[in-house]
Amino acid sequence: MWNVIRRNIVGCRRLLDLGCGSGRVLQRLMEEANVCEACGMDLSGEKLVEAHVRCPSAELVHSDSVVLPFKDGSFEVVFISLMLHEVESLKGLEGVKITLDEVSRVLERGGRVILIDHLNPGKKMITVWMDSSARVKFNEFVRRFSHHKVQWFDLEDGLIKISKGDLQEFATKFKSLNSEIEMKETHAPFTKAQIVRILMKCGLKPKKVLGFQNIKDQLLNVGVELMDAEPWKRKILCVAKKLDNEKAKRSLHDNLFHTLERLPSPDVFV
Ligand SMILES: C[S@@+](CC[C@H](N)C(=O)[O-])C[C@H]1O[C@@H](n2cnc3c(N)ncnc32)[C@H](O)[C@@H]1O
Repeated sequence: MWNVIRRNIVGCRRLLDLGCGSGRVLQRLMEEANVCEACGMDLSGEKLVEAHVRCPSAELVHSDSVVLPFKDGSFEVVFISLMLHEVESLKGLEGVKITLDEVSRVLERGGRVILIDHLNPGKKMITVWMDSSARVKFNEFVRRFSHHKVQWFDLEDGLIKISKGDLQEFATKFKSLNSEIEMKETHAPFTKAQIVRILMKCGLKPKKVLGFQNIKDQLLNVGVELMDAEPWKRKILCVAKKLDNEKAKRSLHDNLFHTLERLPSPDVFV
């Protein structure tokens, strides 16, 4: 994954890390990719203070992704890691669309957005087995998770039926059951088709779409086994390019639905 990221930012003149948090990833991007000018932006002032310690030479901006305080065409690359699921949780898919419209505006022609986030595996009900300590945690998760009501049924003998999306919520949050913020937000924000469609609507053409991090590894840590479903990739890495002109943007928009029907699965896409 880092090879794809590095290839797309190496030597970049001006990069924005949108939702940079405490600057861990921004620091790595600056060290590894020889970026000339780097800028980090986040909604949290506290996190930006930490980012300043890690990345003293970066310009750091305190703002909301739905109104980027930059001129049109300011950046060659916009990097967005694990921010959009928080935007979706607070502002819905419309907030994601407004953010990506803004990203498209501040990118120069031919500029790239690199997007990493959780994926929604869908609502299909599947059967899983949980060991006794996983079951205790699961009961607590069902009580505390407030983003939506968890879909599940007890089949007894350690077996439960649950939607794929809700299983992913549990498996990725079982260590943060005490965090009110984590319990309010989703780790299954959008499907691959939804995010590709939004990118295309914003004039950003996906060049590489890659599923990564197998849910099976996460489930093993928690003490859960899939009984009747194949494991899936729980995150997406997408590199999309800003289209050069309005005509290309219009034709991309016209072909949107047709293209989505033909999208292969993430593994084929890699
Ligand atoms: C899970 S952290 C990811 C941090 C970092 N990008 C990483 O990959 O480690 C998400 C960050 O997005 C920020 N964030 C959430 N919504 C935002 C918004 N609307 N505008 C700007 N930043 C936002 C949060 O404050 C938080 O620092």
